[in-house]
Amino acid sequence: MPGTRFTDIRRFGSVDSTNRYLLDEARSGAPEGVVAVAGYQTAGRGRLGRRWEAPPGSNLLVSVLLRPSLAPGQRHLATGAVALAAGDAAEHLSGAGLALKWPNDLIGPDGQKVAGILAEGDVRGPGAGPTELAPAVVVGIGINVNWPAGDTDLPPELVGRACSLRQLAGHPLDLAELLDAFLVALEPRVDGLGSLRGRAELAESLRSRCATIGAAVRVEGADEIFDGRAIDLTADGHLVVEADGRRRTVQAGDVIHLRPGAPDGRAQEGESEPL
Ligand code: BTN
Repeated sequence: MPGTRFTDIRRFGSVDSTNRYLLDEARSGAPEGVVAVAGYQTAGRGRLGRRWEAPPGSNLLVSVLLRPSLAPGQRHLATGAVALAAGDAAEHLSGAGLALKWPNDLIGPDGQKVAGILAEGDVRGPGAGPTELAPAVVVGIGINVNWPAGDTDLPPELVGRACSLRQLAGHPLDLAELLDAFLVALEPRVDGLGSLRGRAELAESLRSRCATIGAAVRVEGADEIFDGRAIDLTADGHLVVEADGRRRTVQAGDVIHLRPGAPDGRAQEGESEPL
């Protein structure tokens, strides 16, 4: 994309996973800014070891290679930069209002999942490539652009929990146009990762778009599961949850928005699920 760091765009009709591809490129010393985009992935990766599926040519499946100067505890901001850029681009082209669901989803007005993000790295270590390069973070996003066209395309368990921009806009969208708008929007967000002020602005933008803040949530971490109310994001993009009278900062894990008033804590539509 001219005027951005994203000038090396590698396009695949089909690839196993754009994230896997860029992680391998990063290990061989590829610089920040390389982009991989696929019409189809044979082994698309979702979070928590899940698969990410989409029919050929229907959705935007793209990964970017970043080498931000971030401490390990700040890496979530790279995911945030991608989420904000994708949200802005998708809103602009579809006219739909989109929000962020912590940690890594874009959701529609009724909480349905429209996009998911998977960040992978740090690849420093044996065979990780030239040490003068900052550690790589590969951030991949799958945006439901033209699939599903309608709820009948979805497996029953995802009806009401996932949707596409096409459904929200009422018409199909152009994938190439969305990719261009995304990369243009991402450029200043990635610039922002490099300064204290930029990171503060990023965190503020994340707060203002985060539908999780204020929601009753169930946090599913590696070691425990607990319920509480999400009240804020930290300067590093981590979720602050009030639970049992104390504030807890959640750095990783799955978060389910609980349906207000549901006595059994059932998950709200839009709960993070693979497609
Ligand atoms: C999630 O589980 O919500 C994250 C899904 C991330 C999917 C994208 S599609 C492009 C990139 N390549 C992959 O293999 N995964 C990510």
